Amino acid sequence: MKRIIDIITTEVKAAFTACGYDESFAKVTLSNRPDLCEYQCNGAMAAAKTYKTKPIEIANAVVAALSGNCMFEAADAVMPGFINLKLGSEFLASYINEMRTSEKHGMEEVQKKETVIVDYGGANVAKPLHVGHLRAAVIGEAIKRMGRFVGHQVIGDVHLGDWGLQMGLIIEELRDRQPQLPYFDEAFTGEYPSEPPFTISELEEIYPTASAKSKADEAFRERAQDATLRLQKGYAPYRAIWQHIMKVSVADLKKNYSSLQVEFDLWKGESDAEQYIPDMIQGLIDKGLAYESQGALVVDIAEETDSRELPPCIIRKSDGAALYATSDLATIVEREQDFHPDHYVYVVDKRQELHFTQVFRTAKKAGITAVDRRLDFVGFGTMNGKDGKPFKTREGGIMRLENLIAEINEAAYERIMENRTVSEEEARETAKLVGLAALKYGDLSNQATKDYVFDIERFTSFSGNTGPYVLYMITRVNSIRRKYEALCGEQGIAVRDNSVVQPPASEPEKTLMLSLARFSEAIQGSFEELAPHKLCAYIYELATALSHFYDTIKILAEEDKERQAGYISLVTLTRDVLRTCIHVLGFEAPERM
Ligand code: ARG
Repeated sequence: MKRIIDIITTEVKAAFTACGYDESFAKVTLSNRPDLCEYQCNGAMAAAKTYKTKPIEIANAVVAALSGNCMFEAADAVMPGFINLKLGSEFLASYINEMRTSEKHGMEEVQKKETVIVDYGGANVAKPLHVGHLRAAVIGEAIKRMGRFVGHQVIGDVHLGDWGLQMGLIIEELRDRQPQLPYFDEAFTGEYPSEPPFTISELEEIYPTASAKSKADEAFRERAQDATLRLQKGYAPYRAIWQHIMKVSVADLKKNYSSLQVEFDLWKGESDAEQYIPDMIQGLIDKGLAYESQGALVVDIAEETDSRELPPCIIRKSDGAALYATSDLATIVEREQDFHPDHYVYVVDKRQELHFTQVFRTAKKAGITAVDRRLDFVGFGTMNGKDGKPFKTREGGIMRLENLIAEINEAAYERIMENRTVSEEEARETAKLVGLAALKYGDLSNQATKDYVFDIERFTSFSGNTGPYVLYMITRVNSIRRKYEALCGEQGIAVRDNSVVQPPASEPEKTLMLSLARFSEAIQGSFEELAPHKLCAYIYELATALSHFYDTIKILAEEDKERQAGYISLVTLTRDVLRTCIHVLGFEAPERM
């Protein structure tokens, strides 16, 4: 199906052409004065300059050309030259009916299917997942799903931090605790145990202990650095420990991500890029891009148009160690080779913006990727507590994601029990869905770059711009459908589940239909701008229109059975569109709540 805005534009273009004006002036937008009209065209103003006449004359002519066109109920020319449009009821209803019977509610998939890599999650192996990683997971998952829905081939990669100093710290801490392990016996030649020397909870305790120790104990820190370097050079006993760390940690990460309904196609990490580093660095040297500066190897990335001075990208430290940027550049080499992506999206804390600017510019300068390749950094802000400081536990420690989820589910459970229409058991299950919706929508409805306040109280509320409110509106449709079926039973008439939606006869009906009709634009626009908050805004608008409709139109009391069945179809489509939207954002609705 064509997008409604494109259908309208085509019609307005024809009117411009018929009046002798170029069709490029016929740009139609959603009205910014919903009290006056539904769509508008301001092209007469620009055309007036070209044709050296008054805008209102052009607007009048175009409006005259549109008269009698049943796509529009009203087309008005307003000073100084606005063209205000209201859609015809029949036209709108037929568009809605076509949506009902089309795949993806009539959204046409992109014509040029692109391969998109979404790099998100970014958990660091052996460190517990904390709320800092929450935003990366939630926003990245939404972007991945939006891209897929609009028709791209999207690959999600968790890109683990699995190659850094934390590994050396764990190795040395393990040596201090269990020096008898074969990994620490230089003379050992047998096979290393297949069982890891720690459980996940031990591992999670080992890392912070070792990290604290390294700050107080210089010698320990040096040992850890040395162990990291040996690991990276391929020293077999340390590789064996590393395998254990990976296995134990990744299993735990998978569990945590799956409770967030976040799924990755690739479980790659910094370690996978390691093998591409030497050639990549050599390439930078051969091209004359990398040069020595104070013992380090660097690439200049500053451009004349920069508003501030950007430091060079450091490729190799003076001690020969690779850096974060080195690893990200090598990862691009790997991704180019494996997937030839058309588009890269990195969903990472906005404090890493400079890093990504350096990496992107170096990658393009060096031809690691094409100069016109789309490399996007979606930087997100901090999740704060009510005190405006980064979110912490009540005790002031770092909140583990698991506990955060448990806390929000508990709050959702209490809300559900307030209404008390379901069994305790069902309420527990429902609370998981409601809790996840609260958590994800609470995050996604904010523009990613902004910091936001994590407010369980507000996020779990069943009213206002929240996830639970959207779920609640979906379940209200389920409930009205059940009541409608029961009513048909009582009245001995057939349930008409697939009736045609009638042309709108009232404001709430039309408002709901206008909102529904914008589904394709909403979802495509949100992906193009990599802005899940825009899809949230659309969802909220649609849910509010549904609520308005539901509160004004007495569906069950409607005498005209044809019209009543049309109402049921309309709210059912609305529910389905809402369900699709939240699924694309990464959460689901219960049957009732
Ligand atoms: N592990 C990193 C961190 O915790 C995030 C990784 C982001 N992705 C990337 N390609 N650099 O900060």
